[in-house]
Formats: sequence, structure tokens, C-alpha cells
Amino acid sequence: MALVTMKELLSVAKDKNYAVGAFDTLEYITAEAIIRAAEKRNTPVIVMVMPMSLDDPNADAFMGYLTERCRRSSVPVALHLDHSPTYEACVKGIQYGCTSVMFDGSSLPYEENVRITKKVIEAARACGVTVEAEIGHVAGHEGNMLEGNVADPDAYTTVEEALRFYKDTDVDCLAVAIGTVHGVYKGTPKIDYERLDAIKKELPIPIVLHGGSGLGDEDYKKLVAHGINKINFYTAMTLAGAAACKQYIEETPRFQFTDVIAAGQQAEEAVVDHHIEVFGTLSVLS
Ligand code: 13P
Repeated sequence: MALVTMKELLSVAKDKNYAVGAFDTLEYITAEAIIRAAEKRNTPVIVMVMPMSLDDPNADAFMGYLTERCRRSSVPVALHLDHSPTYEACVKGIQYGCTSVMFDGSSLPYEENVRITKKVIEAARACGVTVEAEIGHVAGHEGNMLEGNVADPDAYTTVEEALRFYKDTDVDCLAVAIGTVHGVYKGTPKIDYERLDAIKKELPIPIVLHGGSGLGDEDYKKLVAHGINKINFYTAMTLAGAAACKQYIEETPRFQFTDVIAAGQQAEEAVVDHHIEVFGTLSVLS
């Protein structure tokens, strides 16, 4: 169908009260699993790449494949650059054909986060590209994905900060810190729904949840009911793929490499499929 901007997908999701799943991929197999799951459900999806993939010597081939695959998809797909640490990385994402980029200045002083976000927005808008930013800080994307992370309430987003940031930047959508973490949880996640409600009441733009893995189906449904319109998801999908490969190897006497990959890909596709359903993403025909 089309490679579309994230703004288009999220404005419908906001109107109709559902979330669009945004799944990270570092390679072709997972990208295919994500897009296939969305095609089978006939729903929109967001495919996310990481800045490190754009710095890879094979970035041209990978991004060429991804943009073409999204374009040829039977459902609307936004190709999003996740967690860009710099303006330059965002520009690179735009040059590679991403239809949205996230500038993550959540660890920077407020004024610096605003300054660079505005600069990214200026470049992105000139190219028709959506911009996501983060205020407050979702813990755990500093390389400890599998070790277990705990949310830091001191870094949660405040209503005042979210509103001020929106007014200062005019960003298209905003990631907030309300109790989730990137990667595996140490302990039980505790979402601050009161904080989410207060932010939702004030903020006129779609709200993004990072650290989607590790919650229960009821949590996702509740998060969507309380106004989340984009859910970022990676760890549980990649762990399911790895576990399926391991199980296949243990249970199958003779196999070739492609059989192992197919087993992992199927498991990833099943995880994406399940979450698209739980997030309430509506079919493109509805
Ligand atoms: P998880 O790996 O915890 O699902 O988080 C993904 C994410 O938020 C990417 O931005």
C-alpha cells in the first residue's frame, strides 16, 4: 500500500482510541516478520530502525530493502528512526528514507533538548517527516537490555514539563516516562496511570510509550484506554525469536540454517500479531 508518515498513522489512532505497535529491527528477518504480521491482520504498523544500522557499512542495502518493502506492503507502514542521539543522526535517517525520526534528548538539560528538537523539526518538516521526542527519561536503553532494569520515579515525566516542551517545540508526538523500562524488568512494573491521565488531559498530541515489553495484556489495554497511541516494542519479540531457534535446534535431529531462521521468524511474527491485537490497532478497512 504505502510508506506513510507516523503522523498520519497516529492521528487516526488518536481519533479512534487505539495504539499502533512500533517494533524495532536490526536485520531483514525481523523486518519481514513485523510487516507480514501487519499484512495478515490488515493493520498499519511502525517499523523502527536504530541509528547503529545507519552507520553500518551495509546501511545502503538494508535501508534500500526496507524502504522498498514498506512501499510494497499491502498495509500502511511508517519507517521510523528510534532513539537518535544527535541532529546529524536524524538527518541521516531522513536521507535514508525514514518517514519519522525520534530525537532522544531525554538525558540532556531541558533547554538543550528543546534546541536540538526544534532544529530536527525544521529539517524534518521540510521533508514531510514526523518527529518524536522524549521528556522525562525511560530507563534501560544504555546497553543493559537483558540484565533487568528498574524505573526511576525521579525521571518520570511531569505534566508541566510535557506541556512546556510541547509549547516550546511543537513536536508531533511525545514519549513519556510513566513507569516502564527498556529491556527486561527487575521486579514488577508499576505504571503511574494517574500521571498518564494528567498528561493526556493537557497534551493535544499523540503520547508514546517506550519499553513495551514485559507488561501483561491487561496493562496494554489499560494503557491504550488511558490514551497511549504508540507502543514501542522489541525485547520480548527478539527473546521469543531466540527461544524458538533454541527449541527448534534441541528438538530437531537434522536441519539446515534456514530452518532455524524460519522457526525464529515465525515466533517473532506471532509476538507481533498478538500485540497488534492487544493494542487494539484497527484494520485499514475500518
Ligand atoms: P522494549 O525492548 O522494552 O520492548 O522497548 C523497546 C523500545 O522502547 C524501543 O524504543
